[in-house]
Amino acid sequence: MKRSGSVLTATLSFFLVLCLLSVRGDYCEVNHCHNGGTCVTGVGDDLFVCICADGFGGDTCNLTETAGPCNPNPCKNDGQCEVVAPTRRGDVFNEYICRCQTGFEGVHCQINVNECATKPCNNGGVCRDLDGDYTCQCSSPYVGKQCQQRCTSLLGMEGGAIMESQISASSVHYSILGLQRWGPDLARLNNQGIVNAWTSASHDRNPWIEINLQKKMRLTGIITQGASRMGTAEYIKAYKVASSLDGNTYATLKVQGQWRDKVFVGNTDNDSTKTNLFDPSIVAQYIRIIPVVCRKACTLRMELVGCELNGCSEPLGMKSRLISDAQISASSSFRTWGIDSFTWHPQFARLDKHGKTNAWSPVHNNRSEWIQVSLNLALGYRGFKKGFYLNLLLFSQVDLEKTKRISGIITQGAKDFGVVQFVSVFKVMYSNDGESWNTVKEENVTNDKLFQGNIDNNSHKKNVFEPPFYARYVRVVPWEWHERITLRMELLGCDD
Ligand SMILES: *[C@@H]1O[C@H](CO)[C@@H](O)[C@H](O)[C@H]1NC(C)=O
Ligand SMILES: *[C@@H]1O[C@H](CO)[C@@H](O)[C@H](O)[C@H]1NC(C)=O
Ligand SMILES: *[C@@H]1O[C@H](CO)[C@@H](O)[C@H](O)[C@H]1NC(C)=O
Ligand SMILES: *[C@@H]1O[C@H](CO)[C@@H](O)[C@H](O)[C@H]1NC(C)=O
Ligand SMILES: *[C@@H]1O[C@H](CO)[C@@H](O)[C@H](O)[C@H]1NC(C)=O
Repeated sequence: MKRSGSVLTATLSFFLVLCLLSVRGDYCEVNHCHNGGTCVTGVGDDLFVCICADGFGGDTCNLTETAGPCNPNPCKNDGQCEVVAPTRRGDVFNEYICRCQTGFEGVHCQINVNECATKPCNNGGVCRDLDGDYTCQCSSPYVGKQCQQRCTSLLGMEGGAIMESQISASSVHYSILGLQRWGPDLARLNNQGIVNAWTSASHDRNPWIEINLQKKMRLTGIITQGASRMGTAEYIKAYKVASSLDGNTYATLKVQGQWRDKVFVGNTDNDSTKTNLFDPSIVAQYIRIIPVVCRKACTLRMELVGCELNGCSEPLGMKSRLISDAQISASSSFRTWGIDSFTWHPQFARLDKHGKTNAWSPVHNNRSEWIQVSLNLALGYRGFKKGFYLNLLLFSQVDLEKTKRISGIITQGAKDFGVVQFVSVFKVMYSNDGESWNTVKEENVTNDKLFQGNIDNNSHKKNVFEPPFYARYVRVVPWEWHERITLRMELLGCDD
């Protein structure tokens, strides 16, 4: 058994300080704790609680059974140590084995397995290794956890599944004394006839045509086509695309990694089709085509390519750390006995976190406290000066455009020196700007939904959001709790 003497000394003197701070002529006036243990009062229902020095356990620190090869824990990355009968492996005696968390290996779980080594991303997807997990950035038209799925359904401009009432435009061109109406409902790929496409009015300086898909769908591409009017080819040579989740705020598709709007190359004649992919794919309910350069007139027939959204319950990265510490914040953080090193930081609110302080807990136990996750990676860079971090800002622009679909939450309590603590009821709020917030409501009513939380210190409680919501910020507001507000969690959803 190895132990650093200086660490032990430091730990002991630290506990002495603790004693001075917390003993105030109470049940700890006589120290009931053995072996250097520290007696404290006012925790839970017990008269006093002992904080034991490393290697000792039991209510009064008189048990030494925990001392041994597993104490202090030689296993890294939350690996669990198990004492075994001395066995011989080659020349090495082992008194313990480490049971590693998924994603870690090695005698001491010291190796973070590179899940990308097995090349899990198909069809050109780019892999990123996480703690015990990986994520694929797919290239269109492939989607899914491993980019295994083709998202290439024709959404119904040509086939008719998209109805007239779903198509609108900034203006309509009327020709031959107003007898021919080149309306948006005609903008269907391969539409035939003399009047067979949409054309914007000639005075319209900012033309657009929009399709309301009536629900959120994934879009991977668009097919465009011109038309001919009175023997003349008319078509859109270049266009931009904007999309919206709610019909109010629109985002124009950008060149990947830049601020610039992406300009798609369109048609070159009256009849042939041109396909452009959205890469990465987008999720939207409203999609708007904005002509930039037109030949003769802005005339269009078109089809949308995409697929239904499905299977959206991936862990978003509290446990795997895809969500970084900088993305997690809270109203306040509790410190056990006022000690800094026993702070219950919001960054500790990661599902299955181990350690002495292994969850978030706020200063006050009331309904004003909250923990917040920013799903927008750019947040951490927000405060930086533009000149210095120009590249980062350019890079983060892509993330700023993104909202995530949040479909559920897993919550978990924890123990503070033996006291079981958890959140039994909570509310969920979400926001796109971090300032104005919506609270998840009960279905069909205006009451805030109260989610049932945990009942013990360790088990996972999953709640599903029906319907899922789109957000860049998610807040959990504890409503009822046991002992102290104490929370570990994971968010479920997908990267739309
Ligand atoms: C530890 O202390 C408790 C009460 O303080 C006592 O009941 C128990 O027998 C002790 N155990 C050992 C191993 O000394
Ligand atoms: C339109 O396209 C058809 C088929 O490609 C072609 O035969 C015709 O000449 C074109 N008309 C004009 C006006 O460009
Ligand atoms: C929670 O406690 C803080 C500090 O005592 C107080 O300022 C705040 O108003 C309280 N909130 C509620 C909802 O009681
Ligand atoms: C909510 O309203 C929808 C449509 O009116 C209905 O189909 C659904 O059953 C309602 N759900 C509940 C829980 O009342
Ligand atoms: C806390 O959770 C663990 C693991 O589920 C369980 O073994 C233990 O009994 C719980 N502790 C208390 C005090 O409930």
